[in-house]
Amino acid sequence: MRIIVDKAKCQGHARCWAHAPNVFTLDDEGYILPGDIKVAAGDELLAARGARSCPERALEIDGT
Ligand code: F3S
Repeated sequence: MRIIVDKAKCQGHARCWAHAPNVFTLDDEGYILPGDIKVAAGDELLAARGARSCPERALEIDGT
């Protein structure tokens, strides 16, 4: 599974990180780092929850 990050939409809500801190990395100001995320099999459930929790719809799930 992969998560496609639309960095331009991120407003720093950090809900993704709250669900899956192993998957989502934020910068010093709380914004998601750019670049697609390859999710390890064991992290998929929490990663999907985190992606769906983004109120700005900045995180698209690919491959589920
Ligand atoms: Fe940004 Fe959404 Fe996460 S606004 S910090 S991608 S919850």
